[in-house]
Amino acid sequence: MSKPVVFITGGGRRIGAAISSMLMDEGYFVLIHVRNSVEEAQAIIDAHSKANGGETSGEIITADLLNADIGELIARIQNHPKVIADGGLFGLINNASVYQPISFDDLTFEEFKKNFIIHVEVPFLLTKGLYEQIKAKSGSVIGLVDTSQGRAWKDLTHYTASKNALRQMMINLAGDLHPHVRVNCIAPGAIISAAWEIEHFASVLEKVPMGRSGEPKDIASAAKFLLESDHISGQIINVDGGWTIVE
Ligand SMILES: NC(=O)c1ccc[n+]([C@@H]2O[C@H](COP(=O)([O-])OP(=O)(O)OC[C@H]3O[C@@H](n4cnc5c(N)ncnc54)[C@H](OP(=O)(O)O)[C@@H]3O)[C@@H](O)[C@H]2O)c1
Repeated sequence: MSKPVVFITGGGRRIGAAISSMLMDEGYFVLIHVRNSVEEAQAIIDAHSKANGGETSGEIITADLLNADIGELIARIQNHPKVIADGGLFGLINNASVYQPISFDDLTFEEFKKNFIIHVEVPFLLTKGLYEQIKAKSGSVIGLVDTSQGRAWKDLTHYTASKNALRQMMINLAGDLHPHVRVNCIAPGAIISAAWEIEHFASVLEKVPMGRSGEPKDIASAAKFLLESDHISGQIINVDGGWTIVE
């Protein structure tokens, strides 16, 4: 029997890796897009395969989203044997991201545009290009946004502007694409994906009501929930330990 197929961008490491791994464990075939994290993605696929009698539940799709031919990437997903075998695509997760604080003085238009390409243009093109495949499965699109809206975040104009454009685009698409395709967002708070972030997030965590950072698996659980909640669309789930209610 074919498995439902999910395509995730930036799915080879950190939060994306946790989503890829959990979805494979939960019975999905995951098309894991990476730019550089090929070895990390292969390790996820191999670990899952080893634990499941050699059955492969993922495949790596490589592309640098800043330079790739997105039309060609879309065609690869549309024509992927697993997508054809299952009659479409159950989920598209727009997770790939760039995050680099830059002061206003140093912020170039090129850097500004880069954030909009990764966070807005590519998710738009993928949603549009894969719409028929997602519709065929009554599937959904998920965007990874953040909790920055409405506030000034130092040196992050390019990042917050583009992430909030993604947030609004996803809400709008939920309105445009119903009832065939659901569209939702996950807004992570402070998620510790690497040891160096413990110190980085220390002052933030003092304010988080749940008293701890989030973990990548907290985001993966939300992604699974949204993929499988067929009466939820146009929503943003803050997975932030309550941070937004006290800010
Ligand atoms: N971590 C947090 O605390 C936090 C907080 C709020 C929101 N979020 C959001 O949650 C999502 C996951 O967070 P994260 O910290 O795990 O993300 P991340 O590590 O910053 O980025 C995820 C992936 O994006 C890919 N990527 C970057 N530039 C690319 C390009 N030009 N072409 C193709 N892929 C590219 C990278 O793939 P390769 O490794 O393969 O190069 C990277 O692994 C992001 O959308 C982020 O904005 C995270």
